Amino acid sequence: MDGGGGERWSAVADGWAELWGSFAEPVWAPLLTASRIGPGSRVLDVGCGTGELVAHLVRAGAVAAGVDPAPAMARRASERNPTATVLDGDVEHLPFEDAAFDAVLAVNALQFADDVGDGLAEVARVLVPGGRVGIACWAEGARNDLDVVERAVAEAYEEDVPPDGPLRAEGGLESALADAGLDVVGAGIVDVSWAVPDDDRLVRGVLLGEDERTTAELAPTVLRAAAPFRAPAGGYRLANAFRWAVAGVR
Ligand SMILES: C[S@@+](CC[C@H](N)C(=O)[O-])C[C@H]1O[C@@H](n2cnc3c(N)ncnc32)[C@H](O)[C@@H]1O
Repeated sequence: MDGGGGERWSAVADGWAELWGSFAEPVWAPLLTASRIGPGSRVLDVGCGTGELVAHLVRAGAVAAGVDPAPAMARRASERNPTATVLDGDVEHLPFEDAAFDAVLAVNALQFADDVGDGLAEVARVLVPGGRVGIACWAEGARNDLDVVERAVAEAYEEDVPPDGPLRAEGGLESALADAGLDVVGAGIVDVSWAVPDDDRLVRGVLLGEDERTTAELAPTVLRAAAPFRAPAGGYRLANAFRWAVAGVR
């Protein structure tokens, strides 16, 4: 899915939890390490979706919180994490006091801000001096097998594929953090392969948010485009990459 908007994301909360919720897990470890998150750290996950990373933070002993502008996403994250504070809100208007957190994370979410610079300024506001912000998002489309499938879907709609946003290119996250006056302390790229057990989950995952009729119409397009990524043992394996970067607040 592209674009922000609480209502759009709320409408797909159940499907997100089922099909995509833990997808970005390979990027969690480098983010937590470079953000110096450990037991007792006060950590906010911005754009927390259905709360899988918040749950991981709780397991790591952090005092975890989440925020998401989609009420159904925030509700699911809260239900998954009864000990965590999870509120409705977007990155540009965080419903938390100044200097409330030691670290703030945003995985596959900052690109939906109306203004990334305003979002990062708001993140800095809720961090203690010396606190850390860790951001991760999709790498450029050329690194993602999923891009091949999404292009085929866009062609079937006769739509233009939007160009990669500035955060996705090498150095994009670091530039955004530096432009916001933050000191970059680490960055990297990780494989986030998507292992899909069967055709049904592949089609529903790619077409999340589409109605039943459109999903049925586009299913053959998705299956044809994904054929090169069939796994020998069954299902599909799409290689993809996420970039991450962590910065400190002065
Ligand atoms: C692709 S999902 C990622 C969810 C979660 N971070 C994950 O990795 O599973 C994007 C999330 O960002 C949220 N979002 C959209 N616009 C946002 C904004 N302006 N500020 C913060 N979060 C936003 C959506 O509601 C959605 O839950």
